[in-house]
Amino acid sequence: MLNLSNFSSFFVANWKLNGNMAFINDYFDALNTKSQNCVVVCPPSIYIDKIKKNQKNIFAGAQDVSKFISGAFTGELSAEMLNDMDVKFCLVGHSERRQNFNETNDNIKLKIGNLINNNIIPILCIGESLEEKQNNKTTEVLTKQIKEGIPKISNNENTIIAYEPIWAIGTGLTPTINEIDQIHIKIKKIDDSLNNYKILYGGSVKSSNSKAINEIDSVDGCLIGGASLKIEEFNNIIS
Ligand code: 13P
Repeated sequence: MLNLSNFSSFFVANWKLNGNMAFINDYFDALNTKSQNCVVVCPPSIYIDKIKKNQKNIFAGAQDVSKFISGAFTGELSAEMLNDMDVKFCLVGHSERRQNFNETNDNIKLKIGNLINNNIIPILCIGESLEEKQNNKTTEVLTKQIKEGIPKISNNENTIIAYEPIWAIGTGLTPTINEIDQIHIKIKKIDDSLNNYKILYGGSVKSSNSKAINEIDSVDGCLIGGASLKIEEFNNIIS
């Protein structure tokens, strides 16, 4: 497993259901990874090998993993298989999986355990909907997602949290710098054990706001969707 304390910041590109061979070739021709930060690219899983073989200084990540270890589960990919492909990070519990694929906190807990057992660092995604925010339910929602989703085996050296407010994903909206700071501080206080966890921010991160977001003390990096597909944007974000 990677030593997270080797890096001051983490920039994780979540390509979602985007990209193809030609896109990947152009992307890695243009990618500029001279930074000392940890840069992770999570393509659709079928392209992980292609990402890994590029000569750039990045880590391959996956967007999801099976909660099962092996067996008759058509279409699934296990944590052991991801480890076989030298995957170092894996998103778990992204809101798009919670909303569209019935991902539950119980499943998330199993997935995180499987990943850690296979030396892959899970990036647990948590976040509230607009309605929950408007009803002042943010802390309650995040607390439930954390308490029910994080297994006992997790600690600040083997698990990362990503705070992604659902209303900020793909909308161009973001919380204020102060709001992000306050929420990250609150997350660390949900349980004493969370105090030293790395916490990333995600949701409409782009080159024009990434510097200010990343300069927040309680922010350890960013999880980037749309802007990670535009190589110039992504180069600016990680530089
Ligand atoms: P956007 O950066 O497109 O808002 O997506 C964020 C996200 O969902 C990353 O996982």
